Amino acid sequence: MRSVIDIKELSVSEIDELVSVAKDIIANPEKYAHKCEGKKLATLFFEPSTRTRLSFEAAMYELGGNVLSMASAASSSASKGESVADTAQVISCYADIIAMRHPKEGAPMVAAMNASIPVINAGDGGHNHPTQTLADLLTISREKGRFDNLTVGFCGDLKFGRTVHSLISAMERYEGVKFVLISPDELTVPDYVKRELDKKGIPYVETTDLTAVMPELDILYMTRVQQERFFNEEDYLRLRDSYILTPEKLENAKSDMIVMHPLPRVNEISVAVDRDPRACYFKQVLNGKYMRMALILKLLGL
Ligand code: CP
Repeated sequence: MRSVIDIKELSVSEIDELVSVAKDIIANPEKYAHKCEGKKLATLFFEPSTRTRLSFEAAMYELGGNVLSMASAASSSASKGESVADTAQVISCYADIIAMRHPKEGAPMVAAMNASIPVINAGDGGHNHPTQTLADLLTISREKGRFDNLTVGFCGDLKFGRTVHSLISAMERYEGVKFVLISPDELTVPDYVKRELDKKGIPYVETTDLTAVMPELDILYMTRVQQERFFNEEDYLRLRDSYILTPEKLENAKSDMIVMHPLPRVNEISVAVDRDPRACYFKQVLNGKYMRMALILKLLGL
């Protein structure tokens, strides 16, 4: 029985295998339509979500399985004080696999230690979001055709943006990858992420200037300033519109650069950018469903 809490728990060859299964699902959906018959996925979401919860549920339905859904902490016995460890043991009596989102970093790991079924981290606080990274990797594979020799720019809230931490963790394993970290000084990537890059000798630069670095990027990964992680409303209001991507700002970008965003977006990408063929954020949404299908199959041994 195996869980996925951190993207690093999947080796490069396992990522390749998941990408390859996801592409086969896209090409031959009928082959997979009954693979999970008789199986149940429990989605336990202690924090709001549109994409992650519903794509996990769509993934399970498209595999022929069923879903038990807990959409908020308020609707569960967590509101009466039940622990994550007890919840995980209880849900193990009802379901075959769990996808869990929680505002506390490490909560899905506690669930995995106490469950007798696989647990997938669907986002824990400002820490990790491995299945968003799987969605991102399938998007990069389909749009760029490779994971190596890419200059990847991350822009916005790199401190609290868990999708950034997980994607850096995944991409740093490929040859010739360089990171450009674009953020206000208050929202730079955490030191533990930089220490890891330093230890492995992976090149990165930190800057506040998106316009200056735009021409060198192969991928621009925009992020929302994470209001829910701020202690101080004033700081959020001051920082929330630090970067707003517009068609004008993309004029200096490579013609084959891709623009990614895990969504939801607030103001950081103007809707006018949606018409640019380089905009890939809605493709990421669909790719997330296919990669979650591939991951469910893998963890259930199907
Ligand atoms: N990308 C992402 O995690 O979106 P949701 O918060 O809507 O699940």
